[in-house]
Amino acid sequence: MDDLSTIKSAALDAVIAATDLGALEAVRVAVLGKKGSVTGLMKTLGAMAPEQRREFGAKVNELKGEVEAALEARKGTLSTSALATRLASEKVDISLPIRPEGQGVERGSLHPIGQVMDEVGAIFGEMGFTWADGPDIEDDWHNFTALNIPPNHPARQMQDTFYLPPRADGTPMVLRTHTSPVQARTMLSKDVQMRLADGGSLRIIVPGRTYRIDSDATHAPMFHQVEGLVIDRTTHMGHLKGCLVDFCRAFFEIDDLPLRFRPSYFPFTEPSAEVDIGCSWKDGELKIGAGDSWLEILGSGMVHPNVIRNCGLDPAIYQGFAFGMGIDRIAMLKYGIPDLRSFFDSDLRWLRHYGFSALESPSLTGGLGR
Ligand code: DAH
Repeated sequence: MDDLSTIKSAALDAVIAATDLGALEAVRVAVLGKKGSVTGLMKTLGAMAPEQRREFGAKVNELKGEVEAALEARKGTLSTSALATRLASEKVDISLPIRPEGQGVERGSLHPIGQVMDEVGAIFGEMGFTWADGPDIEDDWHNFTALNIPPNHPARQMQDTFYLPPRADGTPMVLRTHTSPVQARTMLSKDVQMRLADGGSLRIIVPGRTYRIDSDATHAPMFHQVEGLVIDRTTHMGHLKGCLVDFCRAFFEIDDLPLRFRPSYFPFTEPSAEVDIGCSWKDGELKIGAGDSWLEILGSGMVHPNVIRNCGLDPAIYQGFAFGMGIDRIAMLKYGIPDLRSFFDSDLRWLRHYGFSALESPSLTGGLGR
């Protein structure tokens, strides 16, 4: 019995004396481990007479329980204070000025494509557009058929498509060749159909990745587009024109930037127009703004009634316009980036030169905010 109380007080004293989690673990092993003092008591039970074993066994069990509880309680206390010590020592003073570059600190930058997407988002956001997206791996119906490009239609040849193996149910799949399939996905959504039925309108932009079999200084197999779509009961070509004129002037930050709307053909719009912006060339260098030359920057038009019908809306009630623009292309034009492939080289020197500060978000002062 003496043994029992000596072991107990020694164990409990040791628990209290442990000042960190490592020391506490050593106490647990010394008491309850394979060769521990309490475990040693358990081992003596086998040699006892049944009566004695029952009585002594109960006491040893009780002692074991007490030691376990003491260990647990001490562990709680030590963990809390260990955390407090760590929090105190690892405190970050967020009011300190940032360290100057070149002292082992490298500052990252925003890629021009992300920056231009943000700029486009800010300008159209101001005009009431919201940002929508869809999958890069698209089914043939959304990428083509819904957009009035039926199977075997010659317009399918306008884009060099990456075809993928069909889905298990036989659905033909592609890497989307443009962001236009998101027009169909959005119009078909229940939310949008209900909003339109209630007399509301749909205005989205869709910045995203697109894919075509193409590769040179101005084409990459993966590139970026931004799609725009407006649907309601009254929007007409005049709105399309005003919207794109405002956008281009805000984006290029040139208040009197001339725009030319040239008749064109797209299967998903009727009538269709390509938009050129004014520019001039001097000593092989391009300058955007009033000049004697034109640069094509986007495709647009009034959404074809077949597209509206394919997307579950009545073209006798609903109408609107759409446009599509290459993000990489407008980024190259605005920021004077000569080779498209450099966007995807991940060259740090290039990123330092053409990248943008993460702390400056695009604003419209001088553009739409006139
Ligand atoms: N999807 C076209 C392309 O990739 C661009 C485009 C043209 C989109 C006219 C439109 C549009 O929404 O109306 O070449």
